[in-house]
Amino acid sequence: MKKTALITGVSGQDGAYLANLLLKKNYKVIGSDRRSSRSSLWRLKRLGIEKKVILEELELSELYDIKRLLQKYKFDEIYNLGAQSFVKSSFNSPLYTSNVTGTSVLKLLETIREVDPKIKFYQASSSEMYGKVSEKIQNEDTNFNPQSPYAIAKVFGHFTTQLYRESYNIFAVSGILFNHESPLRGEEFVTRKITLGLVKILKGDLNCLELGNIYAKRDWGYAKEYVEAIWKMLQQKKPRDFVISTGKTYSVKQFINETLRFLKIDAKWVGKGLNERLINRENRRTIIKINPKFFRPAEVDILIGDSSKADKFLKWKSKTKLKELVKIMIESELNNYI
Ligand code: NAP
Ligand code: GDD
Repeated sequence: MKKTALITGVSGQDGAYLANLLLKKNYKVIGSDRRSSRSSLWRLKRLGIEKKVILEELELSELYDIKRLLQKYKFDEIYNLGAQSFVKSSFNSPLYTSNVTGTSVLKLLETIREVDPKIKFYQASSSEMYGKVSEKIQNEDTNFNPQSPYAIAKVFGHFTTQLYRESYNIFAVSGILFNHESPLRGEEFVTRKITLGLVKILKGDLNCLELGNIYAKRDWGYAKEYVEAIWKMLQQKKPRDFVISTGKTYSVKQFINETLRFLKIDAKWVGKGLNERLINRENRRTIIKINPKFFRPAEVDILIGDSSKADKFLKWKSKTKLKELVKIMIESELNNYI
């Protein structure tokens, strides 16, 4: 029997990769997007699947939108990937973020309970929930210590998912995913800002790239692999939450250095603190500088995940190393540059 799945946030990075994966597995894929984002279906187009996904309008903060959609189709699985997902913006729009990223999870689960409690539900939880980390390496049992309105909203979604699983016997699980990147990453996130920015500089279309805290460290994996873990979580006999990560951490500065190496840009770092800059040795121009505008009111300094539970139960392990990830992103940047 062909399964029917709903992906909220299908226009985003993970939404596009997951839709592609489910189509390959012969699912009927309903992807929800907002009317306002009809112009931003570039990721589905890049993967050549924009005509294969059935698009339905859904504003996640609207309970009636959710109800209408869940009554229209008989879903086997719902993947809740839609969110205001940019941490920096959540400081400017905390109420909006708590509504879209947090309370919408409750709306979805309450509607599942009412319409069809057999639907399996995946919640996109985040390593941001660990915040100021209480353990050096974070796993499913590590305490949360969120440092942004975004992370607080995700903690709400996480515990709500757990509650509906335990109270109502709904197959509802959370994947606690650490940062994952790809050529389909939004341009506002730091890895894509760096790969696109440095390619623009190379092409002469940008003089200097401005960044915030280049000493923040993240556990960066490859998004295309991470959606496989997401799918596997809903295929288990027993509903369980999983950490998905690489187990390695690198600073933003290390990510920049890898990108420079790949692009063969000969440059050196000079200065300290707000005056730290990257100078192109060939023409002596400053190509990266620090702008405090990109600092956050509260920062998550370092994240490293332990995904051994996923290895054990899902037979999932991250494969792509940082170097390869940079290569994949840069090659795509160069191939698609207009
Ligand atoms: P993304 O590229 O920013 O995509 C977010 C999606 O949510 C977009 O399709 C967006 O639609 C949609 N959306 C935003 N506001 C909405 C609203 N009010 N109603 C309906 N849809 C809305 O994010 P991603 O990187 O694919 O991440 C997918 C999910 O995983 C998110 O929930 C994110 O918080 C979570 N997560 C991501 C990472 C990561 O490293 N990527 C790690 C952990 C967890 P528009 O196109 O209309 O804006
Ligand atoms: N975006 C951005 N822009 N970040 C910068 C910049 C800059 O100019 N300069 C330094 N950074 C630092 C941020 O301060 C942060 O510490 C780190 O780079 C990563 O920032 P983002 O790429 O914006 O990602 P994030 O870690 O805040 O959040 C992403 O990962 C989470 C999982 O841990 C998002 O995808 C979230 O939705 C996701 O939950």
